[in-house]
Parts: sequence; C-alpha cells; structure tokens
Amino acid sequence: MSTYKPMETDDYRGLARMFYENGLEVKPDGPQPEGLIACWEVLDSRGERIAGIELETRAGEYVVGGITVLEPYRKSGIGEIMLRTVTDRVKEMGGQRAMLVAKVPEFFEKSGFRRIAREDSPEISKCFTCDQFETSCFPAVMEKPLNEGGTKV
Ligand SMILES: CC(C)(COP(=O)(O)OP(=O)(O)OC[C@H]1O[C@@H](n2cnc3c(N)ncnc32)[C@H](O)[C@@H]1OP(=O)(O)O)[C@@H](O)C(=O)NCCC(=O)NCCS
Repeated sequence: MSTYKPMETDDYRGLARMFYENGLEVKPDGPQPEGLIACWEVLDSRGERIAGIELETRAGEYVVGGITVLEPYRKSGIGEIMLRTVTDRVKEMGGQRAMLVAKVPEFFEKSGFRRIAREDSPEISKCFTCDQFETSCFPAVMEKPLNEGGTKV
C-alpha cells in the first residue's frame, strides 16, 4: 500500500512539462487552461516531484486533463491514489461525473472509469478534431459516474 499523498500545487507549468515529457498531448509552454480547477503533485522523500494530475472543466464537464507518474514509481498505486483525489474533488463540487480521454484505458478501468462512445461525449478533447483520431490513434473517451442527481459544471 502506497503512502504517497497528492498535494495541491499551483505550478501548472511544471506539471504541463512533466505531462509533455511523458508523452501526453499537452503543450509544455502553453497557457494555463481556461477551465483549470486544480493541480496536484506527489513528492518523494527528498521533495522531488514524481507524479502529477490536473483537473479542469471543458464543455461543461469535469475533465482530467493530464496524469503522469514518473517511470520508476509506476505500478505502486500512485496513479490510482491521484485519480481518487480528483474524483473526490469532483464529488465535493457536486459533479455528476468525471471524464477523460485515455491513452491507457485499462488503467482507468481499474478505478471505475468506463468507455463511452465518441458520439455520446461532449467536445471535451482536441483529439476529436485531430486527423489521427480513430484513424491511426485510438484513445478511449471515458467517464466515471459520481453523484446521482448531481449537476453539470
Ligand atoms: C498511466 C499511469 C498514470 C499509471 O500510473 P501508476 O501509478 O503506474 O498506476 P497504479 O500503480 O495506480 O495502477 C493502478 C492499477 O492500474 C493498472 N495499470 C497501471 N498502468 C497500467 C497500464 N499502462 N496498462 C494497464 N494497466 C495498468 C495497475 O496494474 C493497477 O492494477 P491492479 O490494482 O490490478 O494492480 C502511468 O503509467 C503513467 O504516468 N504513464 C505515462 C503517462 C500516461 O500515459 N498517462 C495517461 C494518459 S491518458
């Protein structure tokens, strides 16, 4: 059982660079997303960042905009802990569901996310307008229902 604890940070830029360096479709020097709600990081015992996650609103939905655990620290439960932190926040905010576009859907399924059809999703991702989407790149649109009777953003 991991003892790592996600802590809120306002260093969006630092997280964006980490996401980019770990293969996510995030511009490392791009502006902070308009709908940014919060970022969290996990630090090692020396205070170095080893993981991060970001939550924002897009198209009226709560969306996990990026999640990364640095390679040496993967498969020890940190990703799952961070996802729980974020879905707890969405619940606190009264959101009906959390959404994301997943490169590794199997990881998110372990945390209760389920795939939904592209046609059933609001425009939460730039992927939807990319030439590669569902031709050479097949990310999964996913949701995790949270509050029965909750509200949209
Ligand atoms: C995806 C990522 C965040 C997972 O983080 P992690 O800390 O290794 O995940 P956890 O240890 O919390 O794993 C939770 C569960 O998911 C499974 N899992 C983790 N990564 C997986 C993967 N790539 N494929 C399938 N299952 C995976 C774990 O085995 C574990 O299952 P278990 O409880 O049955 O053992 C991490 O691999 C990463 O940062 N990857 C690079 C960036 C990336 O692809 N981010 C996602 C973009 S959508």
